[in-house]
Amino acid sequence: MNVQLLDRTLDKCFSENVDALVVMYGLEFKPGKDPLSQLVQEAIRKGDFEVKPGKVLQLYGVPGIKARRVVLCSAMTLHRGDLAPAVSGVWSALREAKVERMVWHAVDGWDDASLYSVATLLAEQSYVYTTTLSSPKTRSLSSISLSMQGASADLQASVARAQACIAGIELAKEWANRPSNHATPTMLAGVAQKLAKHKNIQCEVLGPKEVAKLKMGAFLSVAKGAVEPLRFIVLRYNGGPAKQAPVVLIGKGITFDTGGISLKPGEGMDEMKYDMGGAASVLGTFEALARLQPRLNVVGLIPATENMPDGQATKPGDVVTSMSGQTIEILNTDAEGRLVLCDAMTYAERFKPRAVVDIATLTGACVIALGHVRSGLYANDDPLGQALLNAGESCGDLCWRMPLDEAYAEGLKTKFADVANVAGRPGGSITAAKFLQRFGREYAWAHLDIAGTAWRSGAAKGATGRPVGLLVHYLLQEQLPDLPAPRKRTSRTRA
Ligand code: BES
Ligand code: MN
Ligand code: ZN
Repeated sequence: MNVQLLDRTLDKCFSENVDALVVMYGLEFKPGKDPLSQLVQEAIRKGDFEVKPGKVLQLYGVPGIKARRVVLCSAMTLHRGDLAPAVSGVWSALREAKVERMVWHAVDGWDDASLYSVATLLAEQSYVYTTTLSSPKTRSLSSISLSMQGASADLQASVARAQACIAGIELAKEWANRPSNHATPTMLAGVAQKLAKHKNIQCEVLGPKEVAKLKMGAFLSVAKGAVEPLRFIVLRYNGGPAKQAPVVLIGKGITFDTGGISLKPGEGMDEMKYDMGGAASVLGTFEALARLQPRLNVVGLIPATENMPDGQATKPGDVVTSMSGQTIEILNTDAEGRLVLCDAMTYAERFKPRAVVDIATLTGACVIALGHVRSGLYANDDPLGQALLNAGESCGDLCWRMPLDEAYAEGLKTKFADVANVAGRPGGSITAAKFLQRFGREYAWAHLDIAGTAWRSGAAKGATGRPVGLLVHYLLQEQLPDLPAPRKRTSRTRA
């Protein structure tokens, strides 16, 4: 999806040769002398249009306007909450028309956040999954031009960011949406290797032998039941000085979660193809980094495997030794996410990271706690927690801080190992985070439980690409400021 910014008056937009022109009014409508103003005034007077979020009026073949289709809409404010109904209203008016190129003119202008919101919301609405269809209907919308009068040069950076995030979100959606036989651990590693063709990105892929050598006993115990070989993916983005400590992102990469011997019920089990949503968000974030080339260093770690029942599979009660040396009693093989993550967290220590953020479709309990609106956020470091929370607010990819009181770890105690992999049902998202916390004591660590936000079920079934937006916005805040331009030598000689 191509996004661009146009510096245009509304009048100038009338001569744009595009498939649709969208005109977005703000708080009030001030009629001008243009051909639209008469129509809009008339429509408002007759009650056919209102300046109110979500109100839309579609016009066709307006004399003096080159675009055949014109859609009027309004957003009282430039907040995402007001823009979302405008975008979905506009898109339902245009869905059936094969709109390839669109100009969206904001009468009250764009700012950084509104531009990001409209571009990403339009991308979201127009997205279609095609990979496993024999004759897919393709997406028509390929280019959106956001237009305003007096566009500042600063907004160009916002456009680049929006476009990079859209590419990252869509890469994440593509891989999360694929069924497990089209998104194996090996295929995810292939995506990472392809990303490494970009400037400043490198990738290394470890297989079962290397992982065994690293003594990742927890990760290995999950892969034991699977025929499909595991992969441990290490991605590096080096856009900052070599000495700068990296941020490490760890994505849960369970390409299918049957529950293992603690088998899940059949109904809705297909949705467990989405259990690599964390991994997909790390890949998507690297896609955005490749495009934006910010001044910072980032490591991406993806422990990828299926979780399958089998004669070889780990059984409830089995005790394994994690890479950290801590022993774990696996009381429930369906609590596998924390087992693959804990070894990746220990592996992360070697990078002497500035911060480690893991992203995982970790618990059904998080869906109960926060629904499908906000991801669960845990952090052992307040500035890191706050930075992630703020990043989410700034782009509408929301999360919510959850507690890590020591009392929540009580249920993880067992006689048979250093720690059990499950506690009881109460506070299930929190007890999972308490388990992970034990493996992240060496650095500032945060955990995003995206079980409720990585995909939607029902009629709108599909991956959301979350939390790519949040992660990219967080990382961009972490980048080093550009070095001051070297001072010009003057002809003045030194004293
Ligand atoms: N991948 C699931 C979590 C999940 C379930 C996400 C449903 C979204 C929707 C995870 O591996 C899991 O199975 N967790 C268990 C943990 C339990 C056994 C302590 C769960 O949430 O039921
Ligand atoms: Mn599970
Ligand atoms: Zn899982």
